[in-house]
Amino acid sequence: MEEKKILDIYKYGDDVLKLKAAEVKNIDKKIARLIDLMVGTMHSTRTGVGLAAPQVGESLQLSVIDLSQGHDEKELVVLINPEILEEEGGDMDDEGCLSFPGLTVPVRRSTHIFLKTMDINGKEIKQEIEGYLARVIQHEIDHLNGVLIIDRVSSLRRQIMKKEIKRLQKNGEW
Ligand code: NI
Repeated sequence: MEEKKILDIYKYGDDVLKLKAAEVKNIDKKIARLIDLMVGTMHSTRTGVGLAAPQVGESLQLSVIDLSQGHDEKELVVLINPEILEEEGGDMDDEGCLSFPGLTVPVRRSTHIFLKTMDINGKEIKQEIEGYLARVIQHEIDHLNGVLIIDRVSSLRRQIMKKEIKRLQKNGEW
């Protein structure tokens, strides 16, 4: 039997999305395989530019990002135990999330971040990042802390989102 190449993506409502993910202790074969599967799964969605391990049911500090959506290998970013050391600036922009299919909401994020992370070879990297990639990294690190876009919006918008999700769940579309 062929091994499964695309993982199921957990949607809002699943408890794994609310957990603080555990640190990756060492980058072994299992983690390397998970990264491959996450990249494949992200690319298969056609719209996703980031996917965090908790979204595929693995509560680990691991996330993949590809702003090129599979068009440029050099754009692939793997975050392992990432941490934002400094941040500044702020702007509002619409964000979607593979765990909130079909929904986009305006989220405020820092415009500049100073990131510490590990790459797939276990090497520590410190880097200043700005713009859209900085936004996506903040979104992904939120996932690793159990924080979702619905937690980042006004209470009024949160109520509207919850209502809409309930309606979709009722129709079996969530
Ligand atoms: Ni997301």
